[in-house]
Amino acid sequence: MITEGLAKIKTSKNVFYNPVMKLNRDISVVLLNALGRKMTIADIMAATGVRSIRFLKEVKGVKVFINDNSKEAVKLIKQNLKLNKVKATVSNEEASLFLLKNKGFDYIDIDPFGTPNPFLDSAVKKLSREGVLAVTSTDPAALTGTYPNSCRRKYWAEPLHNHMMHEAALRILIRKIQLIGAQYDKALIPIFSFSKEHYLRVFLKNEKGKKKVDEVLKKHGMFEKAGPMWLGNLWDPKLTERMLDFSSYDTRKFLEMINEEAKIDAVGFFSIHSLCKKLKRSQTPKIDEVIENLRKKGYKASRTHFLGDGVRTNCTKTAEYI
Ligand SMILES: C[S@@+](CC[C@H](N)C(=O)[O-])C[C@H]1O[C@@H](n2cnc3c(N)ncnc32)[C@H](O)[C@@H]1O
Repeated sequence: MITEGLAKIKTSKNVFYNPVMKLNRDISVVLLNALGRKMTIADIMAATGVRSIRFLKEVKGVKVFINDNSKEAVKLIKQNLKLNKVKATVSNEEASLFLLKNKGFDYIDIDPFGTPNPFLDSAVKKLSREGVLAVTSTDPAALTGTYPNSCRRKYWAEPLHNHMMHEAALRILIRKIQLIGAQYDKALIPIFSFSKEHYLRVFLKNEKGKKKVDEVLKKHGMFEKAGPMWLGNLWDPKLTERMLDFSSYDTRKFLEMINEEAKIDAVGFFSIHSLCKKLKRSQTPKIDEVIENLRKKGYKASRTHFLGDGVRTNCTKTAEYI
């Protein structure tokens, strides 16, 4: 038995539960609270049900549909719902079939083993207007360029394999999801994104309409010979700010950092170490000094959650960096 957030969860050796993904679930809870709307939620690959039970206990006004194709998982989900004294509709179906049989949802959570690709089409179809699609990808080897052919096949793009590879990976994944959305005249705009350990996570809002879709497609392009990828914002800065009001002790620092970088409209960032190496500098300046100097010169600058020594800035002159 484990406790996560306000949920008590019985686990079992045959049903997936990864404590490392707690932050992924924490952020989802915070984001739903910051959206502050009544929502019908589909947790299409729920495993122990921990995510849904946390939504039911930690977010107001949600109605939750929980699904997993494993019989054992579903048995455990039902036990965990009882244990936590909360109610949800539980199904035992293949995730896409589950979605297609239902009317539609305001929030759909795709949290697969590996790539989310097989579930995108049905999820996009069943996402309501203004609905939010939450996607996890635990497919870093393809998206960050360890296996470039795999990235080409699965994500229709050229990956990046340097200090910016995680940001590029997110942007490539976002474009892929947006292309599926475009087929159904749904413009999927990222409202919050992050990369952590072995996974990527993005939340996209559905804005229906051909014109909006055309605007999304115009923001696809190349970056440092990688892509095509989404070159628009990774975050909605207003939402990111609001999320701070709902952050818990475990998410506070992470959200504060993202809140700072979300204010800077720039694709990519520089790594102080990589730049010093390139410039053959013997001394590496401290990150806080680099940021302070850029700010003094009138530029926006912040740390980035993607890399410990990464600096995001709207300054485009490399000579000004350090
Ligand atoms: C990574 S785990 C989900 C973890 C869970 N969302 C959480 O936050 O703890 C993936 C789950 O998807 C289920 N699954 C895998 N393929 C599926 C499919 N095609 N349809 C429905 N469920 C599936 C597995 O049984 C497993 O429980």
